Amino acid sequence: MASILVLNGPNLNLLGTRQPEVYGSVTLAMVEDACADHAKKLGLDVTCLQSNHEGALIDAIHDAKGRHDGIILNAGAYTHTSIALMDALISVEIPSVEVHLSNIHAREPFRHTSYISKAALGQICGFGAQGYLLALDALATHLREAGAA
Ligand code: DQA
Repeated sequence: MASILVLNGPNLNLLGTRQPEVYGSVTLAMVEDACADHAKKLGLDVTCLQSNHEGALIDAIHDAKGRHDGIILNAGAYTHTSIALMDALISVEIPSVEVHLSNIHAREPFRHTSYISKAALGQICGFGAQGYLLALDALATHLREAGAA
């Protein structure tokens, strides 16, 4: 069974209470449970991790090599700043999908740039927590087409 790492970055542990008008009222635990349920239907295994620390996120991406077949990454604000996270994703060569709850392109200009996009298969943003499930669908199709699942 193919395995997917769902990785969330800084401040996403506060989902549910953090700016609900932007990010919704769903908690991170609810997002992770929904991912586990949806993955099961797709015949995928998921592991969920969250960290507020850039280095810990990089370590998690490195550790994914050989363990996970796909990565779903919401890097939070590191999306817009972290060449190191982009390099980590490129280095491990694991198919990745970038997710944002909000539509980053409709927000402040500094959120329009994503370093993660340069390393990801694609980006899903603006659909709230559903974006993670759409990302699982996209990875399931990608892995099937690549003969990896
Ligand atoms: C976010 C968008 C980022 O700009 C922001 O810094 C976040 C959350 C999103 O999911 O919409 O922390 O990644």
